[in-house]
This record gives sequence, C-alpha cells and structure tokens, in this order.
Amino acid sequence: MILVTGAGGNLGSAVLAEVARSGTPHRAMYRSKEEAAKAPRGTEAAIADFADKASLAGALRGIESVYLVCSPIPELVRLEGNAIEASEAAGVRRIVLSSAMGAADYGKSFPSWHRQVEDKLKATRLACAILRPNSFIQNVLAFYAPSIRTQGAFYSAMGNARTSYVDIRDVAVVAAQALRGEHDGQTYELNGPEALTCAEVAAKISRQAGIAARYVEIPAEAQRQAMLDQGMPEWQVTALLDLQAYYTGGQGGTLDRVLEGLLGRPPITMDAFLAENAAAFRAPSASA
Ligand SMILES: NC(=O)c1ccc[n+]([C@@H]2O[C@H](COP(=O)([O-])OP(=O)(O)OC[C@H]3O[C@@H](n4cnc5c(N)ncnc54)[C@H](OP(=O)(O)O)[C@@H]3O)[C@@H](O)[C@H]2O)c1
Repeated sequence: MILVTGAGGNLGSAVLAEVARSGTPHRAMYRSKEEAAKAPRGTEAAIADFADKASLAGALRGIESVYLVCSPIPELVRLEGNAIEASEAAGVRRIVLSSAMGAADYGKSFPSWHRQVEDKLKATRLACAILRPNSFIQNVLAFYAPSIRTQGAFYSAMGNARTSYVDIRDVAVVAAQALRGEHDGQTYELNGPEALTCAEVAAKISRQAGIAARYVEIPAEAQRQAMLDQGMPEWQVTALLDLQAYYTGGQGGTLDRVLEGLLGRPPITMDAFLAENAAAFRAPSASA
C-alpha cells in the first residue's frame, strides 16, 4: 500500500495520478476534508497534517511506501522530519522523497532545506529514493503566463542563464517506479531534455501560442521589489532570488540522459507542453 502525501499539490497530484494509473493499492493524504473530497474515484483519502504526529499515525496505518512532499517553506525541514519519524514508528518500509536540484551542493534557499531532510532520511533504517528535479516546466505557466497575457512580456534577472526544465508528469513517473521499490538507495537529479535561456523560452511561447512574447531582463533588486510589491513575504523573495543565483551561476543547465533512461522514452519537451497550454499565454480577447 502506497501513501501519497501532498496529494492536492502540483507534484503530489501528478504522483497520485501515476500511482492510480498503475493500479497499485494506494491512499492519498490531504490536510482538510474539503481537499480530501477532491480525491479521484477509487482513491482512499486520509486527512492528516505533518505538524500533528497523531494524525500521521492514522494516515500511515498499513502503508509500505510513502511519497513525501511538502510545500517549499522553511518549516518543511521540521514537517517532513515529523513524517519521517512517524513513518519509522508506523513500520513503513520506504520513503520516496521529493527534494530539489542543488541539494547536493548549494547551501542556501530551498535546496539547503531539502538537503537537511535528505540527511535525516538517510540516517534512518528506512529504504529510500531521493528525487531532485530541476525547475518545473509548469513554472512557465504559473510565473510567466500572467504578465505575458497582459503585457506580452515576462521579467526576471535570469539573464542568459540556462534551465533544463522538467515536466512534473515525468517526475511523477519516476516517483511511481520508486514507490514500487525500483530505485531503493538511489538519488536522481532529474533534468529535462533542453537547457533553455529565458529568451529561448519566450521564442517558443511566441511560436506555440501565435503571439509576440518577450523576455525582459531586469536587475535583481528590481525583481526583489516587484515580488515584495506583489505581497510575497521577505523570506520567500530571498529564497527565490538565492535559488535564481544558483541558476545564473551556471548550475541549472545540465543535460544528461538520466531521466530518459528512467522513463524509457524522451522526456516531455517545452514545445510539447506549450502546445498543450498555448491558450493560457494569449490575452483573453485574442483567445476568445
Ligand atoms: N517549483 C519547482 O520548480 C520545483 C523544482 C524542484 C523541486 N521543487 C520542490 O517540489 C516540492 C513540491 O512543490 P509543489 O509545487 O508540488 O508544492 P505544492 O503545490 O505547494 O504542494 C505541496 C503539498 O504539501 C502539502 N502540505 C503543506 N504543508 C503541509 C502540512 N503541514 N501537512 C501536510 N501536508 C502539507 C500541501 O497541502 P495543502 O494543499 O493543504 O497546502 C500541498 O498538497 C517543493 O518542496 C519544492 O521545493 C519545486
């Protein structure tokens, strides 16, 4: 029996879909009744919170493999740590941990938080597999589409840095394999099939959506102010800019065949993703 935590989140819901597709008995963990009501048909739902170990004991009953994922918040170290302890106490056999690229060597921001959890997990007797994805292709939709729709442009201090974007759905396929025990003891950095600059992403969006989308480079300080002006908390702004510095330092553009080897097919490309989501980049009047 598999438990998928974070089942209402971006990555967790994709992993849940993949596990459900494989037909493996599974349970999905949500934080609220309202979210749990959205569980797909045929999926057993549990309501629990990483902050509440008693609730975790219920969600973990009879579970062999746990997919562990939490929102990218500083508390994830404590929250996922609780889930690891509760899993040991419940007799779980393995944890598949959602980590992030940079956890190997970057002592700042999200990767450094994930690394602390990785180290805690490795110090247990649990079998584990650790997945460290590069930036999600889906970020392009979440972060760039809104200003492209209204201004025909997106803005950041990424310059000419390259990112090997990976599709969440490909990460989910590997997670589902790992939950079945196929990758015990492994740590994988999961890079997508192309290392793209923001200008190249803009060109692809333009082509796929039939619009003129531009990337506009701005100074990091202007990006910080824009994020603060949007109401983002200071810790999050700092974490995002620190992560961006990892990419502008040349660390985000690795190309390898690791993901392709695990999938047994080429990973999903940016063009394929943009073709699926082209309408989301067009101004409302243009797509009407
Ligand atoms: N975005 C990227 O490009 C990228 C790249 C590499 C790695 N990552 C990592 O991927 C991870 C997942 O990202 P995501 O976009 O899938 O995040 P997400 O959509 O925010 O999903 C996180 C899930 O964790 C759940 N959660 C949060 N606090 C919890 C708690 N106290 N108890 C139980 N569940 C809790 C959330 O539940 P609710 O729905 O109730 O809030 C949500 O379902 C993050 O850790 C991030 O660092 C992201």
